[in-house]
Amino acid sequence: MEIFAKASIGNCILKNRIIRSGTYEGMCDDKGFPGAQYYSLYETLAKNDIGGIITGFAYISEEGKAMQSGQAGIDEKAKIQYYKKLTDIVHHYNSKIFLQIAHTGRQTIQSVTQNTVVGCSKKKSIYFRETPKILSTSEIYTLIEKFGRSALYAKESGFDGVQLQAAHGYLIHQFLMPSVNNRNDEFGIDPEYGIGCRFLGLIIDNIREKCGIEFPLLVKISGSDDYRVKFTEKNFKDLIAYLDKKRVDAIEISYGSMDYALNIFRGDFPTELILAKNPFFKTHNPLRRIFLRNILFPYIRSKLYAFSPIYNLKYAIMAKQHSGIPIISVGGYRNLEEIEFAIMKNHIDFVGICRPFIAEPDYIKKISKNKSHQSSCINCNYCAIMCDTKHYTKCYKTTTS
Ligand SMILES: Cc1cc2nc3c(=O)[nH]c(=O)nc-3n(C[C@H](O)[C@H](O)[C@H](O)COP(=O)(O)O)c2cc1C
Repeated sequence: MEIFAKASIGNCILKNRIIRSGTYEGMCDDKGFPGAQYYSLYETLAKNDIGGIITGFAYISEEGKAMQSGQAGIDEKAKIQYYKKLTDIVHHYNSKIFLQIAHTGRQTIQSVTQNTVVGCSKKKSIYFRETPKILSTSEIYTLIEKFGRSALYAKESGFDGVQLQAAHGYLIHQFLMPSVNNRNDEFGIDPEYGIGCRFLGLIIDNIREKCGIEFPLLVKISGSDDYRVKFTEKNFKDLIAYLDKKRVDAIEISYGSMDYALNIFRGDFPTELILAKNPFFKTHNPLRRIFLRNILFPYIRSKLYAFSPIYNLKYAIMAKQHSGIPIISVGGYRNLEEIEFAIMKNHIDFVGICRPFIAEPDYIKKISKNKSHQSSCINCNYCAIMCDTKHYTKCYKTTTS
């Protein structure tokens, strides 16, 4: 398979096999409306030969908003004309753009959403720490409808497709994980698949019904996680088999949940930055700083994996063995050799990239001109830590600055 040749996701033809993975922007107003900075970011990306662009996660309803400020929303019709402006800009450069749609479930806080935190069970996130109100069966049906409605708004806004955020511990993922889903209604663990896939399945059906089978529908999932009761290899294969049966248009494979966020984006654990900026950990209390520095952070660190190139590839390879659906592998691609290894040697359909595009939006132009170009991203994770503050996403530190 050629990297810099056209490739398709459903009926959508991409310029090449490199995708910009979902990257929270923090550039919308407090009602989730996109504005000038958001348009400018995507114009820059669209100019730079990226095969397909996936936006940062956009919320489908108010209580499913993220803790981060400036998140995009796709929860109301009034936003369509604002996104239409965005898709027109991107299409002007003959680029493709998919809107990532999400509900945070237990991974948010009430003081930001102004709504009760909800979840598939009472189990709380160890990072966000609010005990969720358990969604009733009928509330789940309402959310399924809202996912479908948001996908339709995305279609009417001119997006080339949507990606369901079913990874990283957000609501759909909470349902999937046997460690979180202890429900005993129809949305509990499916006896055939061993995972809680009905919520995801009915969302897919609802989107297909509203948007038509020809509207590309992508799903992002996590290969495994870091909880005591892990999402096993069998769970993962069963999820792939389920998505294969549902005939989604592409599956992107990432890892983990926000409870161990630095296993999603591996690299440095910037202690000083966390102590200075993170809303849950920043403190001037000297005793608490000692506790965090010497007890809690070393414990968290002991749960983290070091950065290694292309760290989620093994899940993508496994998925290819169990599905005929195009697979996107994301996590740790930093040079052309690694991209070639995934696509040409292991027959993975697409590679997803996040941090290198924050550091260098023209990363593809660079690697297509200079085959040995190494991303200037040093995995310092400042961009990720700063997401939880009131700053928009940008690169803070690269090899060149
Ligand atoms: C600042 C930042 C924001 C992110 N926002 C999102 C997001 O909105 N949706 C999503 O699915 N993943 C998000 N991710 C995860 C990335 O899409 C990707 O899965 C992860 O960073 C690993 O890829 P990389 O090594 O190329 O950065 C984000 C990562 C970072 C660092």
